[in-house]
Amino acid sequence: MEKIYQIAIDGPAGSGKSTIAKALAKELDIDYIDTGAMYRAFGYKIREKGIDMHNPAELRELLDSTDIDFDHGKTLLDGTDVSGLIRTPEVSMLASDCSAIAEVRQKLVKLQQAMGETKSVVMDGRDIGTVVFPNAQYKFFLTASSEERARRRFAELTAKGEKTTFEEVLEDMVKRDTQDTTRKVTPLRKADDALEVDTTSMNIEQVTDFILSRIG
Ligand code: DC
Repeated sequence: MEKIYQIAIDGPAGSGKSTIAKALAKELDIDYIDTGAMYRAFGYKIREKGIDMHNPAELRELLDSTDIDFDHGKTLLDGTDVSGLIRTPEVSMLASDCSAIAEVRQKLVKLQQAMGETKSVVMDGRDIGTVVFPNAQYKFFLTASSEERARRRFAELTAKGEKTTFEEVLEDMVKRDTQDTTRKVTPLRKADDALEVDTTSMNIEQVTDFILSRIG
C-alpha cells in the first residue's frame, strides 16, 4: 500500500499559499485542501442567513446544519458550489471574524482532519502545521512583505473585476493579519518544525521547485 502523507502550508494572506499548494498538488498528484475556503464558506453562510455569530445558540444551530466539502477544486457549501462567491473583501473579513470563534474552529478542524486522514493531501491555512496535522511529514511557513502580499491580492481581485484600490487591499490585509495573529484561539503562528520560506522576491515556480526539492 502507498504511504499516506500530509504537506502543511501555513502563512498570512497573500503569502502565496494557495497558488503554491495547488501547484504542489498537481505535481505530486494528490488532493489540495484550501482550509481558508472553508472559513470563507462559513462566513458567507452567516451573512446569507443573517445569523449573529456571537449568539452561541444561533451559532451552534448553524454549525450543526452546515456541511463543507470540495469537489474537483470547487468549494461546496451544503452541496452548492460557492467558489465564485467567497473571494470578496467582505467575505474575507467575515471568514477572519468567524475563524476567531473556538466552536467554529473545532468543527472545521475536525472536517479537515477527516479529509487528510485517508489520502495524501497538501493543505493550506493558518494552523495546519500546529493544530490540524501537528505530525505532518512536511511543514512550510510562507511569508512575504505586506506590500508584496497586497500587490498580489490586488492583482487577483482586479483580474476578477472587483472594484478596489491597492491602498484598500493593503489596509484590509494588515487588519486581517492583526486579527489572525492576535486572536485567542490558535492564532497564526509558525510551527517550530516548519521551514520558513520568504517568497517576497521569488516567483511561483521558484517557490514550488524549492519546496519540491525539500520533499524529495
Ligand atoms: O487563506 P484565506 O485568506 O482564504 O483565509 C480566510 C480567513 O480564514 C483568514 O483571514 C483566517 C481564516 N483561516 C484560519 O483561521 N485558519 C485556517 N486554517 C485558514 C483560514
